[in-house]
Amino acid sequence: MTSTILVTGGTGTLGGHVLPLLGDAELRILSRHEREGAEYVTGDLVKGVGVEAAMDGAEVVLHLAGGAKGDDVAAANVAAAAAECGVRHLVHISVIGADRVPLGYLRSQLKAEQAIVDSGVPWTILRAAQFHDLVLMMMEKMTKMPVVPVPGGLRFQPVDSREVAERLVELAFERPAGRVADITGPKVYGMDELVRGYLEARGKRRPTMRVRVPGKAGRSYRAGENLTLDGALKGKRTWEEFLDEQVRETATGGRA
Ligand SMILES: NC(=O)c1ccc[n+]([C@@H]2O[C@H](COP(=O)([O-])OP(=O)(O)OC[C@H]3O[C@@H](n4cnc5c(N)ncnc54)[C@H](OP(=O)(O)O)[C@@H]3O)[C@@H](O)[C@H]2O)c1
Repeated sequence: MTSTILVTGGTGTLGGHVLPLLGDAELRILSRHEREGAEYVTGDLVKGVGVEAAMDGAEVVLHLAGGAKGDDVAAANVAAAAAECGVRHLVHISVIGADRVPLGYLRSQLKAEQAIVDSGVPWTILRAAQFHDLVLMMMEKMTKMPVVPVPGGLRFQPVDSREVAERLVELAFERPAGRVADITGPKVYGMDELVRGYLEARGKRRPTMRVRVPGKAGRSYRAGENLTLDGALKGKRTWEEFLDEQVRETATGGRA
């Protein structure tokens, strides 16, 4: 029997890598926008519109949707609908540091996790480090400035979103496992190294200026509370390999 899987966030970066890995499962993909294709259902998780209809009959829910605001509300709506619809496995992606870094966005990730845990539905939560795609976007924005501000003492463990997708799909087909080992990239990089690597791949020169992130959040990042240094599952693809693929090829119009 093929199972029905609902994927929230299936139109996003991570979701785009997850969908092709779901094999024979009957898919439903929830999006705020109407899209062509029988597998798409329209709904808004923050507004709580269309959530139960999307979940009706689904055995597994991969909750990957996320935005700048309201992820806690969205997760609470997902959790309530999943309980109501008798979902058998709720898989949720979260962010490393959700329980430690004092930033509004991460606090909302922690509340989102709690909503999943409290749902009464068997669950699996995977916390991931920043995706290469997000780090690349940050680098593109930062290096638009004539002098690139580089926050001192900040470190990251960028991970390939395709490897996170593979892990999520594995987890979705296994039994609900609760909080599983976090997933990070293979290496820890200082922000300065990430900037240097990006500039080099783009063939750009920019002066950099060390800046200090103020306040509690700055202290937390400098203390590495956004990292999982022990016990993480490590992806294989490095930031340099991602840059080779995404930036150098475009910058040089494709390599020989
Ligand atoms: N990016 C990272 O570095 C990172 C690291 C760790 C964990 N994560 C988590 O991974 C998840 C996916 O990240 P991503 O980078 O793939 O995100 P993304 O590319 O920005 O995609 C966001 C997805 O969420 C959906 N969405 C947003 N608001 C929604 C709403 N109110 N109702 C229904 N759907 C909504 C969007 O669908 P439509 O636009 O089609 O409605 C889209 O599919 C997020 O939950 C994020 O917290 C990300």
